[in-house]
Amino acid sequence: MNDYSEYTVSIHYDRRLYRQDIAGSIVHARMLARQGIIAEEDADLIIEGLGKISTEIEAGEFPWDSSLEDLHMNIETRLRQLIGPAAGRLHTGRSRNDQVALDMRLYTKEIIEKTIEGLHGVQQALVSLADRYRDVVMPGYTHLQRAQPVLFAHHMLAYFQMFQRDIERFRDCHSRTDVLPLGSGALAGVAYPTDREYLARELGFSQTSANSMDAVSDRDFLVEYLSATSICMMHLSRLSEEIVVWSSREFEFIRLSDEFTTGSSIMPQKRNPDFAELARGKTGRVYGHLMGLLTVLKGLPLTYNRDLQEDKEGFFDSSDTLLATLHVFHGMLNGLTLNAERVTRVSGESFVLATDMADYLVRKGVPFREAHGAMQELCGYCESTGKELLDLRLEELQRFSPRFADDVYRITPASSAAARDNPGGTAPNRVAHELEQAKKLLQEGSDGL
Ligand code: ARG
Repeated sequence: MNDYSEYTVSIHYDRRLYRQDIAGSIVHARMLARQGIIAEEDADLIIEGLGKISTEIEAGEFPWDSSLEDLHMNIETRLRQLIGPAAGRLHTGRSRNDQVALDMRLYTKEIIEKTIEGLHGVQQALVSLADRYRDVVMPGYTHLQRAQPVLFAHHMLAYFQMFQRDIERFRDCHSRTDVLPLGSGALAGVAYPTDREYLARELGFSQTSANSMDAVSDRDFLVEYLSATSICMMHLSRLSEEIVVWSSREFEFIRLSDEFTTGSSIMPQKRNPDFAELARGKTGRVYGHLMGLLTVLKGLPLTYNRDLQEDKEGFFDSSDTLLATLHVFHGMLNGLTLNAERVTRVSGESFVLATDMADYLVRKGVPFREAHGAMQELCGYCESTGKELLDLRLEELQRFSPRFADDVYRITPASSAAARDNPGGTAPNRVAHELEQAKKLLQEGSDGL
């Protein structure tokens, strides 16, 4: 091999597609024989040879040769060594263009199935957390400032919803990936009476492509996969950020299990949330691969162009990263403990109940704006005196509104959450319903795509 040809080699990464490539070839050979395009005996020889190749690859004994450039040429060359000239008939009515498109679609469909399984695992862990701490009230945040009390379960189930949308996106992407490109030839179709319906059925596709030129050059399904992957990593990264913040000494809301923290080489007290940080960091490369592929595709005239070979590495890296991250999150969330005592305590501090006190005044007949103004002044007063709202005596409260009465002291974080009793709100009965719905979705989801 001269120094230049190395530039075009893809075997070091496209060999990952060997199972799909061999499965496609076996079905293609069988179809050729059924249609009388090649002899039965040749098809039998080809299929037997491909079986041997598969065994060799799995045993790590396949003689990979980078001077043969890609996976397809490696397999075809080996087939000739094993069965002789009959090997030359396999590529009848096929091109590497529809072959590689087939391999990528088969591979992507499998990856999507695994991704959805991984997402279900994370959802399961969120549901267990919500269940385990179902009555715990914590401060909910806006602007990372304590805002209003919410149930910890409500917070966990917010992520459940994000991952549910991710699952829907992956399913949607699966439906457009599920289209057979084989039979498109190099670009124009093939000059043999092939049976594409048979190919689709045997290879598990629900549709065959409608346009051969589109079929060999379309990589939208990968863009969609990378886009759904980016959105999913964005969600995981947001959750990572919460885990990092919550496990800090400043918050002390959660404790990660030892498996998911690392010590510092010089600071013995450290329990660094490295897994969450890495997930947040790896999101960057996944976004990058999406942008990379969009850029590869944007200037391509129809039909196949060699640029398309650049669809693979970023895609493999993104799917590896997402699957690994989902696996880590499953473990990390299952091993997470909530400092329930602390989150409940702080949800009664720092004016988290200010909105509820304003609502209280509204219920006593004060217009909302006025109640809000009174509470603003009250909060200012508390800040300057270093007191909490409900530590004030009734006479002090009444200086800001005469409508305050003894029953104001019944406002607690729990009563605040219970008051948000409308669909989608954080009242315990609403969250209990949400949890049931989540469990039902998980149950349905485990029945398949
Ligand atoms: N390695 C190529 C790819 O991944 C396979 C298809 C090559 N086709 C061709 N006409 N050179 O896209």
